[in-house]
Amino acid sequence: MQTDSSFTFVLFGGTGDLSMRKILPALYEAHRAGGMLADSGKIVAVARHIADRAAYIDWVNEHVKPHVSKNGVDETAWASFLDRIEFVKIDLGNPEDFTLLRDALSGRPGIRVFYLATGPSLFVPICRALASVGLNENSRIVLEKPLGYDLKSSNAINDAVGEIFAEEQIYRIDHYLGKEPVQNLLALRFGNVLFEPLWRREWVESIQITIAEELGVEARGDFYDNTGALRDMVQNHLLQLLSIVAMEPPHSMDSDSVRDEKLRVLRALKPIDPRDIGKVAVRGQYHAGVIRGSAVPAYATEPGVKQDSNTETFVAVKVEIENWRWAGVPFFLRTGKRLADRVAEIVVNFRAVPHSALGASALRGGANRLVIRLQPNETIRLYCLAKQPGEGMNLASVHLDLAFDRFFREGQMEAYQRLLLDVINGRLALFVRRDEQEAAWRWVEPILNEWAAANKPPKPYAAGTWGPAAASAMLAQHGTCWLEEEN
Ligand code: BG6
Repeated sequence: MQTDSSFTFVLFGGTGDLSMRKILPALYEAHRAGGMLADSGKIVAVARHIADRAAYIDWVNEHVKPHVSKNGVDETAWASFLDRIEFVKIDLGNPEDFTLLRDALSGRPGIRVFYLATGPSLFVPICRALASVGLNENSRIVLEKPLGYDLKSSNAINDAVGEIFAEEQIYRIDHYLGKEPVQNLLALRFGNVLFEPLWRREWVESIQITIAEELGVEARGDFYDNTGALRDMVQNHLLQLLSIVAMEPPHSMDSDSVRDEKLRVLRALKPIDPRDIGKVAVRGQYHAGVIRGSAVPAYATEPGVKQDSNTETFVAVKVEIENWRWAGVPFFLRTGKRLADRVAEIVVNFRAVPHSALGASALRGGANRLVIRLQPNETIRLYCLAKQPGEGMNLASVHLDLAFDRFFREGQMEAYQRLLLDVINGRLALFVRRDEQEAAWRWVEPILNEWAAANKPPKPYAAGTWGPAAASAMLAQHGTCWLEEEN
C-alpha cells in the first residue's frame, strides 16, 4: 500500500482514550512499516488542556508508547514518528480558536483529514467552526461511533455535517469493518465458487454472530450507562457484520457497489413488531462474578454507572431478512460484556441431508457447519461428518481448519491502521454510508423504545458466564443452541 500523497491528519480529542489506545498507535505502526505514509505527512493534535507541543509530546511518550507494538517499540521509528506530530491548543467551545488551526494548516500540501475522536455532541460545533474558517475544502472528516443516540439525533448530526461536507468527504468509522478477517469474509464468499451456491435458505438453517467480551465497562462507565449494548455494538458492528454475511455479490469492490449491497440487506431486515420483542430480543446486565479466576464487580457498582441502572450489557436478538435468499432463516446476534470468553465469530449452520442411508447421525442439523472466527485468532473451520475407522458405518464430526497466521505470517494490520490509511488515501468502501446508518437505526429503534418504555430491569447474569438463560431459550425455540452449548 505505497503512497506518495501528502496529508495533514488533524486529531480532535488528541488526549482522549481512543487517541491514546488506537489512533496514535495505528499511525505509528503505519509510519514504522515504511512506505505507507508520505514522508511529508503530518499529524496535528488538537487539545485544550495541554500547554504546547513539548507538553503534548511528553503526554504521547507517557500514554501512547505503552500501547504501541506488542513486540516492543522501535526507538528510531518512534523518534521519527514524534517528528511528524504538531500541536495546536484549541478550546473547542470557542470557535474563534479555529483561526489558530487554519493558520497552522495554511500552505500545507495534500489532503486534510479531520478525525473527530470526541463525543458526538461536539461533531456539529466542530464542523461548523471548521467551515467558518474555510477548512471544509480539500478535506475529509472522520466521525467516530456512536453517531447519535437514536435515528432522530443521528439524522440531526448527519444533516448538519452534510451541510458542510459532501457525503464523499464523510468517513463514518466502524472499526469492525477494518478487521482483516471481516474482509476475508468477502474474499471467502466472493473469491471462491465453493460456498456461494450453498449460501442461501435452501442450505442454511441458521446463522449466529457473536461478539463476546471479557472486559467490563472499564473507565467508560458514564458513557456506557447512557448507551448500552444495543447502541454500542448491535446498531453498528453486529448489523454491519450481518450485512456482509448476507449481502448479494457486489458488481465490483468499489465503495458504492459494496455499500449498495449492504444497504439492501439492512433495508430488508424484517421490522420488529413491538409486541414480539420479548420473544426476539433478550437483554441482560452483569452481576458480580469471576473472570479467569478473578472476582469482578457487578455492572451497577462500576464507577460512573447509576446504582439502579437498567442499561443492558448483553443483547441477544433474532433477526430475519425478507428476501429470496434468506426468507425464514434466523440470524441470531449476540454481544455482551463480562462474558465467559473473548471471542467474535460467525457460525453458519447448514441443513441436514434430506435423506440418509448412513444412519440417524447424518440427519442431525449442524453436522455441516462453517465457523468463521474473527478474533482472538483468525480461523475458518468447516465441520463435516466422516466415517469412524473400524467396523460398521459410524459417523463422527471432523473439521478442516484454516488458520490464517500459518499462511500469512506477515502483513496483518490492525483495524484502525487499515482504516486510517483508507481515509488518507480516499477509499470509502469500509466506511458506513449515511443511508446504511439510517437503516440500522430504523431497525433497532422499536427495541430501544420498547425497552425504555417497559422500564424493567434487564435479566441478570453472573460475570464470567454466557449471559442470561433466556438467550439460550430463544434459540431452543428454533431447535438450535449457541455454539458453546453444543454437546
Ligand atoms: C467498541 C465499543 O466500538 O468496540 C466497545 O464501544 C467495545 O464497548 C469495542 O469494547 C470492541 O472492539 P474489539 O475490537 O475489541 O472487539
